[in-house]
Amino acid sequence: MGTIVKDVTFKNDIPKGFLSDTHVSYISTYGKDKDDYEYCMTEYLRLSGIYWGLTTLDLLNNLDKLDKAEIISFVVSCQTDEGGFSPSPRHDCSILYTLSAIQVLCTYDQLDAIDVNKAIKYIASLQNEDGSFCGDVWGEVDTRFSFCAVASLALVGRLWTDCPINTKHCVEFIVSCMNFDGGFGCRPGSETHSGQVYCCVGALSILHELHHIDADLLGWWLCERQLPSGGLNGRPEKLPDVCYSWWVLSSLAVIGKMHWIDQESLKSFIIASQDPETGGIADRPGDMVDPFHTLFGVAGLSLMGQTNLKKINPVFCMPQYVIDRLAINVEILT
Ligand code: FPP
Ligand code: ZN
Repeated sequence: MGTIVKDVTFKNDIPKGFLSDTHVSYISTYGKDKDDYEYCMTEYLRLSGIYWGLTTLDLLNNLDKLDKAEIISFVVSCQTDEGGFSPSPRHDCSILYTLSAIQVLCTYDQLDAIDVNKAIKYIASLQNEDGSFCGDVWGEVDTRFSFCAVASLALVGRLWTDCPINTKHCVEFIVSCMNFDGGFGCRPGSETHSGQVYCCVGALSILHELHHIDADLLGWWLCERQLPSGGLNGRPEKLPDVCYSWWVLSSLAVIGKMHWIDQESLKSFIIASQDPETGGIADRPGDMVDPFHTLFGVAGLSLMGQTNLKKINPVFCMPQYVIDRLAINVEILT
């Protein structure tokens, strides 16, 4: 039996080019009205939302549109007694928002604003005997959390010096989540999912352990994610989605196989997912835009060399100049 292909078709009135200025205005005004319904309903992920918006504006060369002091004081207010970060004050902390906090502060070169040692202790406390990581005190294990731990420690400069986690076990756990198709799932035996592939490939790249990967096999699974519309899906039989452009494309970039997909048609899919009136990018053409898909659309275009965008680092999903300033060297296969 063949694989079912679900895809989208473009309408006639899609945008023709990359609408940089409208995206700057969409992101820089997002959240200005604190009573806005969508803004209120996304309080549970606010800190990650700040990372998405700030990174997008930086890539678009408009970081100065945001109020740096206000953002730093918000990040500081999210550090909890456990040392980790919550998405907003009075919420529970997790390793996901701890990474977002560290990413924001690294971009602003302001890590000193928080208690970094306490954050490091929190991250280390989430590692289990088998090398895996829990996301928070409630105990769910997922390779996303392995990535968050490794990326956070690399960003604060504690992966190679005075490292508080067992990196050997960390690598062993990630490798135990590798499947027959070359991809990775969230736990051993779980189905390959391109979001988890991004996390596992990223963590192994930061740790310089990419030799565990079968790049040809994984590259084949990843490039099969491209659909006739040019968009990429996250798993077989799923619809294309701009955020998967990022999870798949950045993984291909790390294993040196970005040329295995049709980049021109992926660019067209992202361009078609823009909203020319409000600015911003949606998951697919015609849908409502949001800051999450706007970042991954812009980041994907940056990875594919779009002019007038800052260069993105495929592992950290942060501007390359920030990673260079921190002197972090990820492993990239050629
Ligand atoms: C899909 O999630 C995406 C993932 C599983 C990857 C998430 C990656 C992180 C949390 C690491 C931090 C990210 C960055 C960019 C620094 P989903 O729940 O939307 O999947 P679904 O489409 O199958 O529902
Ligand atoms: Zn999506």
